[in-house]
Amino acid sequence: MTYRLFEGKEHASTYQKYRFTPPEELKNIILQYLDEKKGRPHGLAVDLGCGTGQNSRLLAPHFREVVGVDISECQLEEARAVAGPSNITYRKGTAEELSFPDCSVDLLTAASAAHWFDQSRFLAEAARVLKPRGCVALLGFSDPSTSLRYQGCGDRLDRLFQEVKQTLLPYTSTRVTLTEGKLEELYSAIPFPDKERQAPHKPTRTYATANGSTQNKHGEATALIERVPVTSSISVRNLVGFIESFSMFQGYKKKDPTAAGELLLNTEKRFLEEMGVESPDTEVEQQLEYFCVLASKPG
Ligand SMILES: C[S@@+](CC[C@H](N)C(=O)[O-])C[C@H]1O[C@@H](n2cnc3c(N)ncnc32)[C@H](O)[C@@H]1O
Repeated sequence: MTYRLFEGKEHASTYQKYRFTPPEELKNIILQYLDEKKGRPHGLAVDLGCGTGQNSRLLAPHFREVVGVDISECQLEEARAVAGPSNITYRKGTAEELSFPDCSVDLLTAASAAHWFDQSRFLAEAARVLKPRGCVALLGFSDPSTSLRYQGCGDRLDRLFQEVKQTLLPYTSTRVTLTEGKLEELYSAIPFPDKERQAPHKPTRTYATANGSTQNKHGEATALIERVPVTSSISVRNLVGFIESFSMFQGYKKKDPTAAGELLLNTEKRFLEEMGVESPDTEVEQQLEYFCVLASKPG
């Protein structure tokens, strides 16, 4: 079964405007892993579930060619409309049936997308199209760990954000909850012996450092990654836009467009009231935690 929750034109345009580009730290970890396992040259990267292309564009300077693949034509149209490097192309397709020859892909990525794929069909295709020692990187961020700060009212903003998530809970696909387990199930199903996903309870957790490398608690360099905390500034307007991009918000909007529109307006209003400011361009500090599953095909 394929999930088709990202098809609308309006939704795709919200995606283009409000979704985040994955952090440089995480990109560096993925490239470091690829260098270690397969080495250079970096020929072809395929970004599955590319949406409006944020992750595809991030990879472009490091590969001869990047192909973004998505099931939704509207998302691809938005991706193509963004000025970007000339070595990226976008193709309609699915992660379960890849239009690439056997052993032709250096890196397969999926940013906030792998939870939508049919696990076994996607993994069979990954094993087919990857070059020997080619790599898979499945990345995403975990929503429950999102935290917001603005002067002294961080906790109230976090509670408000959680309240909105609670309203949207009935419209949340069980697929989305897979990202909250940081793709554990998918990780277990990867058929390659060489795979990495640090479990939260393990004592040798890795830590992202300011220069983008990772270290364990003994200061040893490692590509293992359990969490990469990323702090950035986001305007209240864009934060509300980010909520609008959620698949569960789109589900709510489909059922009750008026209530969904009001939820966004009220959320913006309540954020501004809590912060004691008037302009939706006022920025708050947002912390997100990214995770990544890495695997390499046997040589
Ligand atoms: C949450 S969005 C992520 C988009 C983008 N990678 C990002 O980081 O913003 C998930 C994307 O996966 C696409 N998608 C869902 N199922 C898919 C499948 N089976 N094959 C290819 N793309 C798929 C959706 O159309 C959507 O654009």
